[in-house]
Amino acid sequence: MPKLKIVDNGTPKGDRYYDKTAKKYESKRLKQDWWHVEQKEMQSLLAGLPDNLTVVDIPFGTGRFVPYYVEKGYKIAGLDASGDMISAAKGILGDAFKGVDARVGDAAALPFGDEEFDLLVSTRFLRDIVTYSVAKDVLKEFSRIAKKYAIIQLGQNFKSGLAPDENSTMGGSLSEKAIHKLLLDNKFKVIEKRLVHSLEQDNSEIYHYLCEKV
Ligand SMILES: C[S@@+](CC[C@H](N)C(=O)[O-])C[C@H]1O[C@@H](n2cnc3c(N)ncnc32)[C@H](O)[C@@H]1O
Repeated sequence: MPKLKIVDNGTPKGDRYYDKTAKKYESKRLKQDWWHVEQKEMQSLLAGLPDNLTVVDIPFGTGRFVPYYVEKGYKIAGLDASGDMISAAKGILGDAFKGVDARVGDAAALPFGDEEFDLLVSTRFLRDIVTYSVAKDVLKEFSRIAKKYAIIQLGQNFKSGLAPDENSTMGGSLSEKAIHKLLLDNKFKVIEKRLVHSLEQDNSEIYHYLCEKV
């Protein structure tokens, strides 16, 4: 018998990342095949961008891409709603955490200036952590603080897609065209996308979208 796959039920998961969940976050995710695909595709996308950029990673989580940012000579900032996740990042990253401006805050009301960063990175967030309505507010904030590039992870429906409920997570509801429009409405033009996970059961796929600010 094939294992039953869990279909995203549209419930936001934003408030779960504290205490034990934060401590075990990365060790649990390291067992997922697609975690490693996300790492590889992120490193490869970053390789095509200039060195010595300023980057902000929201939500920062355990700072999973920090070693790649360090390799590129980036000046690094991050923000997460959970101080426990930032503490976990500090423990995991060791010396690589030094010099990172890691803050606790809300992605929908960012404590950063307009176009403060060359590059904005956001993974495992807009698709299934916040509601569609909040995701749209967050995208406005991302656009405000990003100057040149963004790498944003989103779900995309490979059939015709449909509009998500405002009070549910987006999951993989939106079609490719709708995702490109959502990003472009926020001045992010998709220039490349990398598949990181397929969810056959809900006709969707998850991509890292590399965008240029227009
Ligand atoms: C699934 S984790 C993703 C972390 C990291 N980006 C990654 O790819 O592993 C979701 C993170 O979102 C954070 N979070 C939830 N709601 C948030 C909000 N409104 N603003 C900022 N961070 C939030 C959680 O604390 C958690 O660290």
